[in-house]
Amino acid sequence: MAIELNQIWEFPIKEFHPFPKAKLGVGAHDMLGVEAKELGMTRVLLMTTGLRGSGIIEELTGKIEYQGVDVVLFDEVQSNPKDFNAMDAAARYQSEKCDGIISVGGGSSHDAAKGARMVIAHDGRNINEFEGFSKATNKENPKHIAVSTTAGTGSETSWAYVITDTSDMDNPHKWVAFDDSCLVDLAMDDPLLYYSCPEHFTAFCGFDVLAHASEPFVSRLDFEPSLGNAKYSIELIRDNLRTAVYDPKNLAARSGMMHAQYIAAQAFNSGGLGMIHSMSHAFSAFYDSHHGLNNAIALPRVWEYNLPARYERYAEIAALLGVDTRNMTTVQAADAAVEEAIRLSKDLGIPENFGQLTTSTYEKNRMNTGKYEGRGDGVDTSDAQVRAIAEHMMGDWCTPANPRESTVESLIPMVRHAFTGSY
Ligand SMILES: [Fe+2]
Repeated sequence: MAIELNQIWEFPIKEFHPFPKAKLGVGAHDMLGVEAKELGMTRVLLMTTGLRGSGIIEELTGKIEYQGVDVVLFDEVQSNPKDFNAMDAAARYQSEKCDGIISVGGGSSHDAAKGARMVIAHDGRNINEFEGFSKATNKENPKHIAVSTTAGTGSETSWAYVITDTSDMDNPHKWVAFDDSCLVDLAMDDPLLYYSCPEHFTAFCGFDVLAHASEPFVSRLDFEPSLGNAKYSIELIRDNLRTAVYDPKNLAARSGMMHAQYIAAQAFNSGGLGMIHSMSHAFSAFYDSHHGLNNAIALPRVWEYNLPARYERYAEIAALLGVDTRNMTTVQAADAAVEEAIRLSKDLGIPENFGQLTTSTYEKNRMNTGKYEGRGDGVDTSDAQVRAIAEHMMGDWCTPANPRESTVESLIPMVRHAFTGSY
């Protein structure tokens, strides 16, 4: 009887996904207009959530126009970008006869732009048809420069994007897609643009980076070229995140988090994600809360849930986070990693559970600016809601790489703890 390779190992052949060109460092944003022109852009759709009050959009627009490139502003992207954000941007791109896209912001702006490019390349097909792996049939799509103003997403250097499907709000669905053809043509990470990122968003985004670094480090793919980046990113978080949050003009800390974001995304790009992201996507399908905040609440629970499958790797994470593990057993050190994550969460003022979130923390109001209504006040912590989250998690494309095999039933205690438990 023939033995199937995937009975021995789920991912016998690893796949590397490339990274785009990037400009990194202080002053990189000065080059935006020159780079847009260099890429042949003459009229760009500038996609953003608005970044109101920061002055960044006005400054970048000036730099682009100075090079003779026209700017059409599309500032309607929402946090957790919705399907209609991508569709509306694609329609605007075509009606304005643009020939390139520049996204400015965090993951929401970049992901909405990637989604719009997919729609444009496929004759206006519904963006929700692109969930999953490598769904693009036309690999040619508009050129794209992604300019980051946060240290979290990594979307500027990854092949991933995440969209919320609003077609059936009785069954909320937020999905992830991975596609080499949605890589940007140029990533720009300039720590000066992070200075106006508020304290709480810096903290949330920092936890997104810790999720991006730790998930490939323990993932089933066990992609060796990702491990070095994952480890170094965790060290950068250890050394810089608290300072970036509480001393926001500290250039070394902002620069450290910029590099942490960049290389953590390169770790998960081929190394995979896991249940932190699955839980995060599920929760914001229902409540539209910040991706990084969801990750921060999910992370200690998922680490603990996964411990029995990866004690050695979590023990290494503890040491990378600064725990002196020399006199600990592997299991003690792995436990210490969870404790260290909880300490970081408390230091950064992260709520203990989803049940503590309010309309101001899960940003319900942003949903109301779109085409459907928000979901009442407060988070529903009922058993039915917990089960719905666990079911959504099982369908997420990040779940297959999680180190621990799961079922809805095995997830429910962890999800319930994330909703109402305390540390
Ligand atoms: Fe993420």
